[in-house]
Amino acid sequence: MPDLQRRLMHLISCNQFRKEDVERLIGSAEENRDRKNLHLQHKTIATLFYEPSTRTRMSFEAAVYRMGGNVISNEDATQSSSSAKGESLEDTIRMVSSYCDAIVLRHPADDSSERAAQIAHVPVINAGAGACEHPTQALLDLYTVWREKGKIDLCYALVGDLRYGRTTHSLVRLLGLYNVKVILVSSDYFSLPDDLLKFIPNCHKVDSIDEALECEPDVVYLTRMQRERFPPHLKRCSNVFSEEHLNRLKKDAIIMHPFPRNEELPKTIDRDKRAAYFRQSENGLWMRMAILKELVK
Ligand code: NCD
Repeated sequence: MPDLQRRLMHLISCNQFRKEDVERLIGSAEENRDRKNLHLQHKTIATLFYEPSTRTRMSFEAAVYRMGGNVISNEDATQSSSSAKGESLEDTIRMVSSYCDAIVLRHPADDSSERAAQIAHVPVINAGAGACEHPTQALLDLYTVWREKGKIDLCYALVGDLRYGRTTHSLVRLLGLYNVKVILVSSDYFSLPDDLLKFIPNCHKVDSIDEALECEPDVVYLTRMQRERFPPHLKRCSNVFSEEHLNRLKKDAIIMHPFPRNEELPKTIDRDKRAAYFRQSENGLWMRMAILKELVK
């Protein structure tokens, strides 16, 4: 599939994907569960993280090891790379790209992955760029919906900080490839940026989870307030998913969350079988193996 390879030299944004790419990656992720994939033997992947991470970095690194490859890692690059001595992202990328076969990058600047892709002579994988995008999360999210529900053309309630949360910004771009209904649940200040609304023409905004539940969503996708990205006086979280909401949720719906969670998702919800978020995190491993297989040649 040379066309796909050309468009996916780097993974920067969900805008790069067509529906057939998403479906191919979902199929490949599913295969990784029970088929050996040693695609990265003799390859070295760099994970370069300028922001905190648990799941994204560790699932990428676990994926590399499962695929027979090696990892070089800088897990708090803001403190412990030469960035602390004033080195630019561009200079760092130029060096790192000569030590490895792909770079997995998380950085607080919205355009970081694009800038890195212009310099690197190996694939750059965006593992979170500012408040802008987090495409590998959106891919594992759709993989999870497909696994749990058997299809993606469904009704979604996206809840929380839709303004600064990069996971929903990538997710709506992918949902735009499907026939979906989307309910955007947030207070005004935290609503989805207008330029993303074009991806989800069949959507409407509400303030509360109560109102969203009246539309009987199949997927409730909760997100945390991105407190590191907005002024502290706006700290309050307005939408917490309660036991009462659980009782009103459709019997075959699922609850998702990219994690880490804060107060918006109480632990008491975990025992319900509709809580799909731990399965979602696990799916990250299989999907990231599929992504690495696709990009690293
Ligand atoms: C998310 C992120 O980094 O954007 N975490 C993740 O990768 N699963 C979500 C978040 O930080 O809220």
